[in-house]
Amino acid sequence: MYVCLCHAVTDKDICKAVDRGACSLFDVQNELPVGSCCGRCEDTARNVVDEYLSTRRNGALHRVPEPAL
Ligand code: FES
Repeated sequence: MYVCLCHAVTDKDICKAVDRGACSLFDVQNELPVGSCCGRCEDTARNVVDEYLSTRRNGALHRVPEPAL
């Protein structure tokens, strides 16, 4: 789903930024231009960050383990 139409940033892009260590919308904005034009997407982007962090904290997201070498 597109969150930021001005810069074509999706919810997946935001979640990937969180996976790389972003803990807030401010952190995400250091990596992605979300919210830097009209700003209408900021509330939605913040919700995506918060919900994804909450999902990860609750252990609902299971990563596929890396294969052993
Ligand atoms: S929709 Fe994101 S800055 Fe305009």
